[in-house]
Amino acid sequence: MAVERILVIGGGGRENALAWALARSSAPPQVWIAPGNGGSTAIPGCQRLDIAASDQQGLIDTCQQKAIDLVVIGPEAPLAAGLADVLRQAGTPVFGPGADGAQLEASKEWAKELMQQAGVPTAGFWVANSAEAAAAIAQAQAQPLVVKADGLAAGKGVTVAQSHEETLAAIRACFSGRFGEAGSRVVLEERLEGPEVSVFALCDGRELLLLPPAQDHKRIGEGDTGPNTGGMGAYAPAPLLDQAGLEEVRSLILEPVVNALRQRGIDYRGVIYAGLMLTSSGPQVIEFNCRFGDPECQTLMPLLEGDLAGVLLACAEGRLRQAPALTISSSCSACVVAAAKGYPDSPTLGDPILDEGPGLDSEESCSQLFHAGVHDTEGGLTTGGGRVLAAVAQGKDFDSAFAAAYGRLAQVNFAGMQFRRDIGHQVRRP
Ligand code: AMP
Ligand code: GLY
Repeated sequence: MAVERILVIGGGGRENALAWALARSSAPPQVWIAPGNGGSTAIPGCQRLDIAASDQQGLIDTCQQKAIDLVVIGPEAPLAAGLADVLRQAGTPVFGPGADGAQLEASKEWAKELMQQAGVPTAGFWVANSAEAAAAIAQAQAQPLVVKADGLAAGKGVTVAQSHEETLAAIRACFSGRFGEAGSRVVLEERLEGPEVSVFALCDGRELLLLPPAQDHKRIGEGDTGPNTGGMGAYAPAPLLDQAGLEEVRSLILEPVVNALRQRGIDYRGVIYAGLMLTSSGPQVIEFNCRFGDPECQTLMPLLEGDLAGVLLACAEGRLRQAPALTISSSCSACVVAAAKGYPDSPTLGDPILDEGPGLDSEESCSQLFHAGVHDTEGGLTTGGGRVLAAVAQGKDFDSAFAAAYGRLAQVNFAGMQFRRDIGHQVRRP
């Protein structure tokens, strides 16, 4: 059955990229996005609905009124809150795990225990419920430990300490209430070394379909300096993991995790995002997320050719083996994020966005401009969030892909626009 009516939930650049890719499926479906952002209506075949991702009843009603065939949930918060469960109970197939599976991201302690039981390689760890207990563990170790708030902290709950003093300061900060409930318990970890890479697997509860590995750029500043962000750019496929490496990740990490989830009675239908560190003793899991990365998703979506809607529906229905083919382009894909002035601490909002480019999508230059923190006002688009836009482009190699992505970004401007000029330095010729 062709998927005719899809609802994407979320309001970032990731969800716009998902909506764009779904609308390009072989038999193009109608796509709604809730709540979307100021750039969502620029996506051909896509309409925006003013319903928050937290409004479960509103979304159940919408699925029924619009006879939605498939819901795709973008962000972690509605997944952790059980949105996929209530929509499934109401009869709509959902791509996205239930609250049980979302614990893979929503509780670092839960995820570490699952990995330990499944024999998945990951850093040694300890859990503490008070600053005193955490400090005692940290002080008993020869090396400074990594400190992680247990719950969802919007990617900001991790400190990779360089000294014992820094570990102790991070423990104090965690228990001071800086991350709310998420910081009432900490996970302490051994510090690993090596390059990082992200692997995204589409899962139907049993089977896995792996997408090309992607490399994120988490720090705000060039040369990977300054505070952590949601991600300032990405590229794929990351040459750090070749096909054999990817198969190793499948057998060593992803399959054991899916089996461990099943043993807990969890039928995980959605994306498993494995954040890996390639250490001298092999790949180790830094974290799992229960959703696509942002901006890795914007980078990956243009590489997918075929019936993405059909594949995500097959995942949602637990029958990935019968899914239509999803071909992965052999191109290189580059993504550069433009953020508002003051991001990540206190972004300035409300500045007009000027764009002299070809709109969202240029077939000619193989580029896309995905809007994220963007408001739609009477006077046009304005900045409405920390990460404002992602310019993405594909090429036969990374030099041409990045030249096109930066070329697309040069056509855009807003007051105080900041972006890193060194995204992809690992794969570009100087
Ligand atoms: P997370 O939010 O868990 O992805 O952590 C954010 C970043 O902290 C990661 O991308 C890594 O760069 C770093 N990190 C997390 N855990 C470790 C670890 N055990 N050893 C070294 N670096 C880590
Ligand atoms: N770009 C990293 C993330 O989405 O978590």
